[in-house]
Amino acid sequence: MITLRKIRREQLGHASYFQSNTLGLTTMTSEQKHILADNVKRFDDAATAWEEKPQRVALARKVAEAIEQAIPLAGTMQVLEYGCGTGMVSRALSPHVATIKAVDTSPQMLEVLRQKAGEEKIDNIETLVHDLTQTPLPDKDFDLVISSMTLHHIPDIEALLDQFFAALKPGGYLAVADLVTEDGSFHEDNTGVAHYGVSPEAVRAILAKNGGKDIGVQEIHTIEKLREHGDKRGYPVFLAWCRKGK
Ligand SMILES: C[S@@+](CC[C@H](N)C(=O)[O-])C[C@H]1O[C@@H](n2cnc3c(N)ncnc32)[C@H](O)[C@@H]1O
Repeated sequence: MITLRKIRREQLGHASYFQSNTLGLTTMTSEQKHILADNVKRFDDAATAWEEKPQRVALARKVAEAIEQAIPLAGTMQVLEYGCGTGMVSRALSPHVATIKAVDTSPQMLEVLRQKAGEEKIDNIETLVHDLTQTPLPDKDFDLVISSMTLHHIPDIEALLDQFFAALKPGGYLAVADLVTEDGSFHEDNTGVAHYGVSPEAVRAILAKNGGKDIGVQEIHTIEKLREHGDKRGYPVFLAWCRKGK
């Protein structure tokens, strides 16, 4: 019999080089640790110039706007952003919530975030280097967990979404954005890419499995890329959101 988890992995294009342990977290061999360390280095190296690409800035703005429309943000909310990078989404949402814990595995991305937040006089974002795919977070009382363009770098997306639910208070909200499943042409170099985009319907099924209420899934943006021979290609991005059951 094919298990639900296996079906989802097939739908999600699950990378085969990690295995889930009984907690749903991944256990790593030394080779796998090497792959993760490479990923950290790649994003560390990209951090300083990350916001120089107007497409990235435009996408983050769209994600923040879509979250504002989908989720009733409040000045009392404790928020977790996972895979925050330089914190473009967190910085945009920071005036509307109480605090944001911005988590990433790349220390340099977080260094840029702190620098930009300082320049923008934002004082309610705290940064943390942490890998939730290996170790759960000690805090489990967030009102909102968000993540943008990170799922496709995570081998076991279902285990990560399960961890997001575990980090939420009963009645808290979840909102994740990512590329819709593509053919592998989005990244110039697919090193460190665990999935060629993510199936919005597979994410919807995982939210439902976790008892998510008021689930919404919507395409919110299209990233236009100029390809060889000058033709343009559009890559849709979706937002999936829900409320955790009480
Ligand atoms: C494509 S970037 C997106 C960054 C940011 N959310 C944005 O939209 O600009 C993916 C981010 O996920 C982070 N990342 C990759 N693997 C991760 C993991 N296992 N845990 C936490 N963050 C991770 C990378 O360091 C990087 O900052």
